[in-house]
Amino acid sequence: MKWEIYKTLEEASKKTAQYIVNELNLKPNLNLCLPTGSTPINCLNEMVKLYEEGKADFSKANIYNMDEYVGLGKTHPEGYYYFLQNHLYSKTNVDLAKTYSFDALDVDLNKQCKDYTNIFYKNGVMDVMYLGIGTDGHIAFNMPKEIHYLNAHLENLSSEALSANAKFFNNVDEVPTQAITIGIGMILKSKRIVLNAFGKSKAETIKQLYENPVIDPQLPATFLNLHEDLTIIIDKDAASLINEFK
Ligand code: GLP
Repeated sequence: MKWEIYKTLEEASKKTAQYIVNELNLKPNLNLCLPTGSTPINCLNEMVKLYEEGKADFSKANIYNMDEYVGLGKTHPEGYYYFLQNHLYSKTNVDLAKTYSFDALDVDLNKQCKDYTNIFYKNGVMDVMYLGIGTDGHIAFNMPKEIHYLNAHLENLSSEALSANAKFFNNVDEVPTQAITIGIGMILKSKRIVLNAFGKSKAETIKQLYENPVIDPQLPATFLNLHEDLTIIIDKDAASLINEFK
């Protein structure tokens, strides 16, 4: 596990964008899985900037959503497909035919999960898995719980996740209570993983991840301890409770 701490989230996001674009330049048909939420916005903006400067070509990349709220379609402004469409696809030369996402309106969600697991591997394993992290330690939408799934599956969102994500909706009651998500196995099979965490609200979670080399199913991000090529890029606020980084 490699840790990189930067003064600001802008700086950390720039480094993350550079990390991803370096991989893209090495392999133009990169298999890339992207997160949503507030964390990746600056990084995605930086990726757009690199494209505009002629330093990134997304035309051959295969880009995957990692999760989606149940009941939100591709055009819903708080849906996760729309998020990537809005922040990256519409501003770069991403080929929409090479973008993949859950159909969270499917009447048979269990079949949808099976289908998405197959789609996820159709171009080979993920080259780069870019993750955010919830204040409860969730990665993608793998919530704290006793038993975790390897493949795509349905999740009931924790009350902590619901209240954290209420900022994107008018109120907490509007946040869908279920999501479909890639499983822990799909994350760990990726060749490289890069995780961002920004702000004081993530500091306690990041401290736990740093100080406890354990697998704790109640802190799903600890599964990442099993991966051999994990880079954690955070800002100083997220690192603020770790003595070594003070
Ligand atoms: C969301 C997403 C995760 C994301 C996390 C953190 O619910 N499902 O992929 O990493 O929660 O969100 P934020 O970046 O807004 O703090």
